[in-house]
Amino acid sequence: TDRDFIHPSILNADFMRIGEELDRISAADSVHVDVMDNHFVPNLTFGADMVEQIVRRSPLPVDAHLMIEDADRQAPLFAEVGADSVTFHLEAARAPVRLARELRRKNVAAGVALRPATPIEPLLDVIGEFDMLLIMTVEPGFGGQSFLEGMLPKIRRARRAISEANLEVSIQVDGGVSRETIEKAAEAGANVFVAGSAIYRANDCAAEIEALRELAAA
Ligand code: DX5
Ligand code: ZN
Repeated sequence: TDRDFIHPSILNADFMRIGEELDRISAADSVHVDVMDNHFVPNLTFGADMVEQIVRRSPLPVDAHLMIEDADRQAPLFAEVGADSVTFHLEAARAPVRLARELRRKNVAAGVALRPATPIEPLLDVIGEFDMLLIMTVEPGFGGQSFLEGMLPKIRRARRAISEANLEVSIQVDGGVSRETIEKAAEAGANVFVAGSAIYRANDCAAEIEALRELAAA
């Protein structure tokens, strides 16, 4: 892939001022929306109605990251409310390839996410069924955790398989991405970077996004 993408996560935004918080990240490529159901992860955030309102209000494409059970039934609803990409967890899907095909038929990019403990190998044979692979670099559920360097070999393994098969699948990393960690993730083969606390705790979000983009490209 010849370009890197920065996706700020609004999990770390001020929920009382979500419209303004979306405007602060207009220099980014997409807004990452963390959907949590308090079952798949021990935290609760937004549902499809909120995602629909974010789609309407956001100047950027919406990247929905579903940390919810029963992905097969739930994920298509997020395509229907206008998300541009919908990423479900492999651990929460009964028929991941069938679900990815259904999402693509609904004209959204289909992503599949892996918890840190989930191995990549079983996915490698079907990786072309997805537009994006999300390799979690923290245990999903909360912002502000530390990047798990142990995920770098998994990113490398995935990137190698994607290039060997001549596919154009994006590799997204999510969790603990900052100026300190983004270069390692990029070097391993990631090209889409989610950053929550690193961007929202900056005074100047646009400058932080630019700094991350430059480090990823270095
Ligand atoms: C964690 C979420 C992340 C989170 C990232 O479950 O999927 O998107 O908001 O936050 P930081 O960048 O602070 O680790
Ligand atoms: Zn996320």
